[in-house]
Amino acid sequence: MHKVWKLLLLSSCLAASFAVGAQDDQAPGQALANQGAGKRAELARQSPTLQNIYGRQHLLLDGRWSYIVDPYETGFYNYRHQPFDQSPSGAGGFYDDRKPKSKDDAVEYSFEGSPTLAIPGDWNSQNAKLENYEGTVWMRQLFNATPKDGKRYFLYFGAVNYEAHVYLNGKKLGSHKGGFTPFQFEVTGRLLNGQNTVVVKADNTRHQDDIPTLNTDWWNYGGITRDVLLAETPDTYIEDYQIQLAKGDMGRIEGYVQLAGVQRTQDVTVSIAELGVKTVVHTDANGRAVVNLALPKNKVRYWSPEDPKLYNVSIASTTDKLNDRIGLRTIETRGHDILLNGKSVFLRGVSLHDENPLIPGRLRGEGDMRMMLQWAKDMNCNYVRLAHYPHSEEMIKLADEMGILVWAEVPVYWTISWEKPEVYANAAQQLTDLVVRDKNRASVIIWSIGNETPVSAPRNAFMGKLADTVRALDRTRLVGAALEVHRTGDVVTVEDPLAEKIDLASFNEYAGWYWSNNKEMLKFSFKVNYNKPVLVTEFGADALGGYHADSDTKWSEEYQDQLYKNTFKLLDAIPGLRGMTPWVLTDFRSPRRPHPYFQDFWNRKGLISETGKKKQAFYTLKSYYEQKQQQYK
Ligand code: GCU
Repeated sequence: MHKVWKLLLLSSCLAASFAVGAQDDQAPGQALANQGAGKRAELARQSPTLQNIYGRQHLLLDGRWSYIVDPYETGFYNYRHQPFDQSPSGAGGFYDDRKPKSKDDAVEYSFEGSPTLAIPGDWNSQNAKLENYEGTVWMRQLFNATPKDGKRYFLYFGAVNYEAHVYLNGKKLGSHKGGFTPFQFEVTGRLLNGQNTVVVKADNTRHQDDIPTLNTDWWNYGGITRDVLLAETPDTYIEDYQIQLAKGDMGRIEGYVQLAGVQRTQDVTVSIAELGVKTVVHTDANGRAVVNLALPKNKVRYWSPEDPKLYNVSIASTTDKLNDRIGLRTIETRGHDILLNGKSVFLRGVSLHDENPLIPGRLRGEGDMRMMLQWAKDMNCNYVRLAHYPHSEEMIKLADEMGILVWAEVPVYWTISWEKPEVYANAAQQLTDLVVRDKNRASVIIWSIGNETPVSAPRNAFMGKLADTVRALDRTRLVGAALEVHRTGDVVTVEDPLAEKIDLASFNEYAGWYWSNNKEMLKFSFKVNYNKPVLVTEFGADALGGYHADSDTKWSEEYQDQLYKNTFKLLDAIPGLRGMTPWVLTDFRSPRRPHPYFQDFWNRKGLISETGKKKQAFYTLKSYYEQKQQQYK
């Protein structure tokens, strides 16, 4: 997958001009106005993230990064709390990576001699002192580059939690908010011929107006949690493309290609050799062309969990070429049914976090990810809910390869500042970045715009706009959200204006755990008055792995197991039930779970414990899914 290469020999930097990007640290007008006031106005262009970054020529900047913990942001602000990188010189912060020039030059920080972090990787799991740390950490990597003429260069981050400020060779590139989506800066003309220094200030401090907001039920892992790449492209390159089956049409690919650069009008050939099909499109003055490709009858192997066929798709323009492995499948709803390639399917799922329970921390690589997805497959799942934020691109590609359907979600979680336009803009940006990144992945069938958001007029407006945004971005997939239920007597009702805006009646319910118990819960019934597929996005109970008692004793494996059996009875009574993602595949860390014996800052609703032990309910769910598989064969 990765083509790692050394930036080949060539003389120094291109004279590239730099436009001021939306996400740099000054209002656009301000940066331009300051241009005359010194070099600091030269900020890098923040460009739409390159599609299929791993399919490009690139240098991975992963590895050991030196770090400095900076709780008072001393490396960012002067003693008047004014940002150094906004000062006339733009210098003064830790991003200068300054070395003492003489014995009386007292520099009060040094990356040399500082400890290192394995990147990608959160800092919380790599240093016990940082387990609960929320604040700023500076991370520096040195790398060699020899930039070439006629090429463009992009510094790409898979994810940095939460707010990142990025500097190259002491110069500010820009900043980014949002801990789970990729971002990049164009660095053409900024790379030195030889050793370069990239410094990242990452700050995972939580704020009410962030996405996610202050309160969540997962560990706030900080740092550079996904790959860092330096990508090289031709001067005019394939910036983006979508190659998917048209909505509800198994005989036609519908999509587009987008070129960026100087020669935007070009011929682009899109071909799938294995199917013997190709089309040549001509991009317009904006570098865009629509792709419409008829497929041969009875020849296509449609992607499904049973046969996760991926085709090698080649996209070749005059100046650039990319290959991608893409599955062809359609996904739709019809009344209560979910149709995968036109056939009704039951989504046998489980929810999971982007966390390795065995060495608590963000999933670190393909091995970790495959472990999680294989556990789901061992339980006979064909589907996962990747909660509550975008997981890594590698995880989604693995789901493509392993044949696992995916519910992907943005962290609009619990109570957000609904009325602040900047908060909406942040949520919409994260949603857009998720769709842009994963729109060519067959495994992703549902975009979720949020979880357990409380009904109110400002919330309905906010969420309604998000639903419209995602539909405008991608009309080939379903839109969902994890809604809440309310109880009147023994009736549990799903009633939410947001349900009108989404394709599913999808909700979380905790019968037997947060309300009622194993003895009583069977007296309840669900009322779901939507002619839409019903997906139960969460249910479950905490069980400390290895703690055994009778099935009425909470925290025991027996209680959890019985609750699953009871829940199947309750949910099977819902006519439109077409899937579920019990909460949750494995125990996971949570700062909200302090019970010294039963929790110890773990949410124990896992079907697998933090030591990788399968709990009783794991097997109960597995056999329930065997029945469902038979039923929907
Ligand atoms: C909530 C929430 C999860 C949480 C779970 C729980 O519904 O969506 O993030 O972990 O319930 O309480 O265990």
